[in-house]
Amino acid sequence: MINLILFGPPGSGKGTQAAHLVEKYNLVHISTGDLFRYEMSHDTPLGQKAKDYIAKGELVPDEVTIGMLRNKVEAHPEAAGFIFDGFPRTIPQAQALDRLMEEEKTTIHALLALQVDDEEIIQRIKLRGATSGRSDDSNEKIIQYRIDVYKSETTPVFDYYAEQHKSHRINGVGTVEEIFERLCRMIDTAGEKIKTVA
Ligand code: AP5
Ligand code: MG
Repeated sequence: MINLILFGPPGSGKGTQAAHLVEKYNLVHISTGDLFRYEMSHDTPLGQKAKDYIAKGELVPDEVTIGMLRNKVEAHPEAAGFIFDGFPRTIPQAQALDRLMEEEKTTIHALLALQVDDEEIIQRIKLRGATSGRSDDSNEKIIQYRIDVYKSETTPVFDYYAEQHKSHRINGVGTVEEIFERLCRMIDTAGEKIKTVA
């Protein structure tokens, strides 16, 4: 089993790269952002809880997000591994994920952090905002706020996994194919280490 965290600021390409990685490595992709958007589009109680936070660019409270993530992981006992995209975003979420992995008799093998500067992020999200219909894509102030929240609340998760020697930085600027190659090289190296330990 190989479990990866695809990490990085808003608009850094997590969703784009996850779509390619799941095909190559036969993993289950869990994006908490996509799960919330699904719940909001169906106007479920969970979607109603999340929508005001998301529209403002704030994080949805940990207890809501962790519960949703746990349900999704437990729904895939057959999985060869997971790509977590947009989760964990806080230290309590990272601790909850580690506990869950332990219960599933596995672990997080690597955190891959896409590095993209703020200017490029804002351009990408504004471009997508023209067609995405996402409430948090349309307004530059909210995009900037999402970046600020990432820096203050989410970057400590990189350090948390760095202490476990699992965090890696990947240049997230270039073509989608170039970045995919960089990620694959990193994953294959992590995979070799797992085999050696096993
Ligand atoms: P979420 O959906 O996770 O959004 P995000 O992290 O802000 O990231 P995005 O989905 O906007 O970007 P991405 O990195 O996936 O990049 P993408 O591939 O789309 O979260 C949304 C909200 O939900 C949060 O703000 C929060 O409120 C809530 N939430 C979610 N998870 C939570 C959690 N764990 N805890 C609490 N709250 C949570 O690419 C972006 C654009 O760039 C696309 O248009 C793409 O086509 C383009 N692009 C991709 N790669 C390239 C490239 N190489 N060159 C040029 N353009 C590119
Ligand atoms: Mg995404």
